[in-house]
Order: sequence, then structure tokens, then C-alpha cells
Amino acid sequence: MPSLREALQQTHQILEASGIPDARLEAEVMVMNVMRMPRQDIFAQQELAVSSQQQETLSQVIDRRKQREPLAYILGYKEFYGVNLLVTPDVLIPRPETETLVEHALFMSLMGMEVAHLVIADVGTGTGAIALNLAIHLPAARIYATDSSEKALMVANYNIRRHNVADRVTLCHGDLMEPLPEPVDLIVANLPYIPTARIPTLQPEIQWEPAAALDGGEQGMDQITRLIAQASERLNPQGSILLEMDPEQVPLAEELARQYFPEAETGVERDLAGLDRVLTISRGVAEEA
Ligand SMILES: C[S@@+](CC[C@H](N)C(=O)[O-])C[C@H]1O[C@@H](n2cnc3c(N)ncnc32)[C@H](O)[C@@H]1O
Repeated sequence: MPSLREALQQTHQILEASGIPDARLEAEVMVMNVMRMPRQDIFAQQELAVSSQQQETLSQVIDRRKQREPLAYILGYKEFYGVNLLVTPDVLIPRPETETLVEHALFMSLMGMEVAHLVIADVGTGTGAIALNLAIHLPAARIYATDSSEKALMVANYNIRRHNVADRVTLCHGDLMEPLPEPVDLIVANLPYIPTARIPTLQPEIQWEPAAALDGGEQGMDQITRLIAQASERLNPQGSILLEMDPEQVPLAEELARQYFPEAETGVERDLAGLDRVLTISRGVAEEA
């Protein structure tokens, strides 16, 4: 039977030879999951024997990953903003860029709004990543989370229950903000924003994710444009909108925001890589000034 050290080395080598990015890190995550051990233990117990059943499970995981299936789909979870979320191929795997959106939404909510009665919409919720983190950190807020995919909403439903926020997150099936029963104070959205023609040129892992979660139409702006147009009717007078997008799309989205919200102030937040990632549109700020 191989030791943990050997299993780790072999996994690393196979992944590297298959061209998997971050092969060492992924090897560690795979071994941790198969052995059901925390990270520190796989290093502390390097001589531990790996059973034949564990070897078999590990080789199944490696085989799937060699096909460039995303690790999150193989393991069935992804950590986002410190929270483990169920992910399946019916949902986009939450990205670190989106943590910028969550962080800024929390900042705006806590600094500038009447937090006690805050009503929020997370449009295109997928796993529920944004909605459930806002619910965790804003315990008095009510949140609507919409998606046009019923399968995605089933995953979100599992996640909001598992994290005990189902009493404050209402899942709604439908197009963008159409299913919302009332106007809201804050709209957050990470809608699909990749231009259709760019998708096949992106890394193989992305091709496993649902097209409806990625494809933003010819310029990548179809859903964002529709949301800005819809939002003017559904955002309360002091409300704000936070939209994640590609840095190249920011100027166009800002132009649209000025068209639909001439009274509002706009701003841009950068992600951890320093790229313009989140457009903010704040109705209240400009009116108060
Ligand atoms: C980029 S994914 C984001 C998922 C999640 N919010 C996140 O940040 O990880 C976009 C989501 O929007 C949903 N979606 C796409 N078009 C939509 C529409 N017209 N109305 C509602 N949801 C939509 C997709 O099904 C998908 O779950």
C-alpha cells in the first residue's frame, strides 16, 4: 500500500503531466478529500498507509480531473467567502471575483442604509452564493434570490437551508427581476457576461459549466443591459445596484446607468487582481448631495 507521501507525489505528477493548472495544490485538495483529513494532517502523517479503497477513489477523482472536469464539480463543493457551498454542473462555480461584490454590498448596506428593514435582490443567484452570504452578515435583511434555471434554484435551496438562512432568503423562479413581489433597496447581480464567441476559446474547465450562466450574448451585455432597464422601476428611491462584469464592459454599463438613472451616482470597485469588476449605481447619494 502506498503512503500518503507517495499518493500525494503521484497525484501531483499525474496532474502536472496532464497540464492541470496548480497541480500541487489540487493534488493536496484531492488527497485531503479522499482521506477525509484536514490539510495539516496530510503533512503530519506522511507515512500513513492509503487503503486500496482510498486509492481507488483517488484514481477515480484523478481520471475525472484529467478530462478537465472542474475540481469543484468532482468534489461537489466550493468555498466562497468562507462558506462551503454545494455545487453541481447545474450551477456556475462561484468565483473569487464575486467576493468583491459581496464585500462591497455588505459595506454599502452597513454604512449607508437603514439596515433593519433592508430588502435585497440577488438576480441570477446560481448556488445562492451572494444571497446567502448577505443573509449571514445582515441578519435583519430580507433577500429575494432569483434565477431563470429551476435546477440552479434547487442547488440554492439546499445551500440556504444548510446555512440556516432559508427563513430570510426567498427563492424566485423567473426572468431577472420579474418574479419580485415588491421594490427593493439593493440589487446585486452577477449575471452571465461572457461574449458568446469567446466561450469556446476559454479554458476547458469552463466548457463544463452551464451555458446559461456564462453566455451574455454578442457583447456579453445582454442580461446586464436588460437588468439596468428593468431596475429603474423596481429599485426604491434611495436604493443601490451592484453589478459584476468584465472590466471592458464597465464604460458601456456606466453609460447605460446614466441613461436609466440620471439622478444616480456611479462608481467602480476593483477585484483582488486590481481589475474594474463591480459597477455601483446609487440613487440616494446624488439626491442627498
Ligand atoms: C454567472 S452565474 C452567477 C451565479 C451566482 N450569482 C454567482 O455569482 O456565483 C449567472 C446566473 O444567472 C442566471 N441567469 C441567466 N440569465 C438569467 C435571467 N434572464 N433571469 C434570471 N437568471 C438568469 C443563470 O442561470 C446563472 O445561475
